[in-house]
Amino acid sequence: MPQIIDGKAISGAIKDELKEKVEEMKAEGIRICLAVVQVGNDPASSVYVGNKKKACAYIGIDSLSYELPEETTQEELLDLIGELNAKKEVNGILVQLPLPDHIDEDTVIRAIDPKKDVDGFHPQNVGALCIGQPGFVSCTPSGIIQLLKRSGIEIAGKECVVIGRSNIVGKPMALLLLRENATVTVAHSKTKNLREVAKRADILVVAVGKPKMITREYVKEGAVVIDVGIHRNEDKKMCGDVDYDDVAPVCSAITPVPGGVGPMTIAMLMNNCVASASMK
Ligand code: GUN
Repeated sequence: MPQIIDGKAISGAIKDELKEKVEEMKAEGIRICLAVVQVGNDPASSVYVGNKKKACAYIGIDSLSYELPEETTQEELLDLIGELNAKKEVNGILVQLPLPDHIDEDTVIRAIDPKKDVDGFHPQNVGALCIGQPGFVSCTPSGIIQLLKRSGIEIAGKECVVIGRSNIVGKPMALLLLRENATVTVAHSKTKNLREVAKRADILVVAVGKPKMITREYVKEGAVVIDVGIHRNEDKKMCGDVDYDDVAPVCSAITPVPGGVGPMTIAMLMNNCVASASMK
């Protein structure tokens, strides 16, 4: 059977390390504060935002919560971001996505001070990642690098295939793997012969957003498989983009859903918050 990569345990270890660091910082008089902004009340977003605030409380990071109504105008949201940018005590600003259709996400992301952009979505931070300079990195892909490293999986020199090219996961994932000296291919919905391309991978990262799409025909014997998808099927059971039961017997290591990549996103957000306060 493959090694099951335990995201819950690894994220727990990271959060405990951060808690200790925050205690040390507090002893030096440094406080950390994350502002969390949600527009509307999408139930999934409410769960994510709640989990982020809980993680802050556990680690010892102060959180400010802004729950704005669905009808909030773009101007009102930009005004709030401007205020939070100016607030000295706020280290990190997180605007939960997706935003309602009448608000342009790109404009909102660009309005956040890059030094407070703990999501790593601002073009300045994306550009810094691209050219190997310091900056905030998107939390899900940086969490995946931690999963691999802390599970003893070597990245350098490996053939990595990322399926999915989103700005939040696929693209930064490819850049991070490249930074770790992997050979990287980015595949997507228009890729020809996706099965053959995926089968080249020593490390396969799947972020396609389609439940159980990846079966063993896409996976080389002995590959490491990282599943970014989170879905709920008809009987409310959670599953990923990978057909776990079909793929697990052929790979050397795999992330489960739930309990794989999911918990890492929040751990890395907390890591970015601590880093934002250390950078001041
Ligand atoms: N919506 C889904 N994932 C994320 C994330 O990582 N950050 C933000 N801000 N919104 C999200």
